Amino acid sequence: MGPSTAFFPLPTVLIGTGTVEESDVTAVAWMTVATATPPSFAIALRDSRRSLEQIRATGELTVNLPNRDLVAETDYCGLVSGRNAEKAKVAGLVLEQGAKVTAPIVTGCKYSFECKVTAEYPLGEYALVIAEIVETQADEDALTEHGQLDIGKIAPLVYCGGLREYREIGQKVADAYKVGRPLLADE
Ligand SMILES: Cc1cc2nc3c(=O)[nH]c(=O)nc-3n(C[C@H](O)[C@H](O)[C@H](O)COP(=O)(O)O)c2cc1C
Repeated sequence: MGPSTAFFPLPTVLIGTGTVEESDVTAVAWMTVATATPPSFAIALRDSRRSLEQIRATGELTVNLPNRDLVAETDYCGLVSGRNAEKAKVAGLVLEQGAKVTAPIVTGCKYSFECKVTAEYPLGEYALVIAEIVETQADEDALTEHGQLDIGKIAPLVYCGGLREYREIGQKVADAYKVGRPLLADE
């Protein structure tokens, strides 16, 4: 079928940049955790993005996980540039300064990461931004009774590239690093 970026699932996140007063909130799907030490994301942003301009100016960003309640607002933040609209205001998103960064957190998201940029690599028409995670924030109601992240309550949107669809995470299938163990015996 030829070279294609129709790859799924991908995350659907809102990247918060700038400050609460002069913010940009941008929908991004081409991103992943890149390293655990130091804990870092790799995020691909097209050169033309205003969010990238703000990231370069401040060296900071937040990564916020919206759920189905914010799907229209999230999509809007992927349709319009912050150069042409005050996206947070139009979408009714409430922003709050991070605890360890001045970049804005999207409070309607139940789980957010605060990041500081450590590297940037040019990649075609994109910049691959490496951002170290310096803090995380989760709503009380996104945690289990044992204080752990509850994926069912966070209910992050996933993006299906190529199909251009937002979906939700399905059922748990098995425990990772465990379900394959019986096969170790056959090595
Ligand atoms: C679901 C979705 C995912 C997106 N993922 C990315 C991405 O990974 N990288 C990127 O540069 N743009 C991505 N975009 C496009 C930007 O969000 C869009 O161009 C936005 O208007 C940029 O805003 P800005 O100029 O304020 O940064 C995505 C859009 C949508 C709807």
